[in-house]
This record gives sequence, C-alpha cells and structure tokens, in this order.
Amino acid sequence: MRLVLVGPPGAGKGTQAEFIAEHFAIPKISTGDIFRSNVSGGTELGRLAKKYMDAGDLVPDEVTNAMVRDRLAQDDAVEGFLLDGFPRNVLQARELDGIMASLDRSLSVVLDLEVDHDEVVRRLSGRRTCKQCGHVWHVEYDPTTRPDVCDKCGGALYHRDDDYPDTVRHRLEVYSAQTSPLVQFYDGRGQLVSIDALGTVEDVTERAIAALAPFA
Ligand code: AP5
Ligand code: ZN
Repeated sequence: MRLVLVGPPGAGKGTQAEFIAEHFAIPKISTGDIFRSNVSGGTELGRLAKKYMDAGDLVPDEVTNAMVRDRLAQDDAVEGFLLDGFPRNVLQARELDGIMASLDRSLSVVLDLEVDHDEVVRRLSGRRTCKQCGHVWHVEYDPTTRPDVCDKCGGALYHRDDDYPDTVRHRLEVYSAQTSPLVQFYDGRGQLVSIDALGTVEDVTERAIAALAPFA
C-alpha cells in the first residue's frame, strides 16, 4: 500500500502512523521526523530547516522534495510506504505524482484525519516527545509514570519548540492556507478517505485500519 496521511498539526498523524505502518508492514516516512533528526544531528539540512520549523513555516519545497525523492527511491519503499507530513501543499502533491510516475507506481489512498481546532490545541500543548527514542506522550491523554521521563527508554522528554501557543496558531494558519486544499485535491481524484480522529488512540487506529483495509 502506498499511503499518504493528511490532517492538521496535532491531529495524531505521527501517533497513528506507527500503528498503521506496523499493521500493514510498510515503512513510515515522516518529513517532520527526518527534519528533527537532522536538526538534532546538526547537519546542513537541519540548520537550513530549523529556522522555518521554529517559526511554524514550511521548509522550502525544493529542499523537502529532494529529501522525499531520495527516501522513496530506497529499496524498502518500493512495495509500499506511509508518508506522514508530505505532501503539504499542491505543488508537493504534483511532485509526488512525478516521483510515483518515475518509479512506475501510483498512490493507493490518502487518509484524512478530521479533528476540531480546540482538540488540536489541547493535543499540541500537552505533547511531550522523548529526546532519546522519539516516542510521543501527552501529559493528560497518555502520561508517563514519572514526569518528563520516557517510560519506554528512560530518556528525557521535551516540549517541541513549535508547540508553544503563538507558533501553534501560525502552524494552523499555514495548514488552512496551504495544506487543507489537498483534501479537495485528492477528493476530486477519488483518492481520499476521511475518518473522525476524535476519541481514544485505540478507537482512531481501529477506524483507520478498517478504512484502509480495502486498499491493502
Ligand atoms: P510535522 O512534524 O509534520 O508536524 P505537524 O504536521 O504539525 O504534525 P504534528 O507532528 O504536530 O502532529 P501529529 O498530527 O503528528 O500529532 P501527534 O501524533 O504527535 O512538521 C513539523 C515542521 O516540519 C513543519 O511545521 C515544517 O516546518 C516542517 N515540515 C514537515 N514536513 C514538511 C513538508 N512536507 N514541507 C515543508 N515543511 C515540512 O499527536 C499530538 C499529541 O496528541 C501527542 O501528544 C499525542 O500523544 C496526542 N494524541 C494523539 N492522538 C490522540 C488521541 N486520539 N487522543 C488523545 N491524544 C492523542
Ligand atoms: Zn524514549
């Protein structure tokens, strides 16, 4: 299955991506995670991306497109993949069409996670990420046993720099101006499946897997 996840910041794309990718045995490719690991590794790409990410803006298309093109050409993505965070505007969607055509492949489906504005703000303000293993927790919805210590690996948790209120507001504006048109774009092609992303993580995973099963 060649799957794209869309949805506003904090909809639960990263959370669901883990379960969906495992269920369908496909690699999870998250542009946000790739940028963050380049930032923490101090690479040239990370230095370039950081200023855009901290401001809540999109990293320029030419940088992001080249990174995704390289990743999708790797062997493990030939039979299928889950893309989380890409495409994020119509130009990136057209780039993805070009990448698929050059690999003689096509997208199977685009899964849209629907969640309201207030819930997005609640989810992002309480999110805590592990510095060591990258696991994502939530202070209220998915708390760790000890504050700010990861239950999976003992690593320290941090609050993402782009999860503070002013930047969240700006990311939501960027989403509605640049990314939400993708919902109509893929719907118009008959490639979109939307699910309600409110409720527990387990409920949403169940809905996602049921909606995607026909495309596996
Ligand atoms: P990215 O990392 O992709 O951020 P995002 O799209 O804003 O998405 P988030 O990671 O914030 O949220 P999510 O939907 O994954 O939610 P999560 O599962 O963590 O991108 C960051 C930046 O990188 C961008 O701003 C941009 O600068 C750059 N970038 C990335 N891709 C790019 C591209 N293609 N082009 C240009 N620039 C790009 O969940 C949130 C919280 O809620 C967690 O705490 C979780 O535990 C909790 N939670 C999840 N589900 C539930 C539930 N059902 N109930 C209760 N709590 C829940
Ligand atoms: Zn950890």
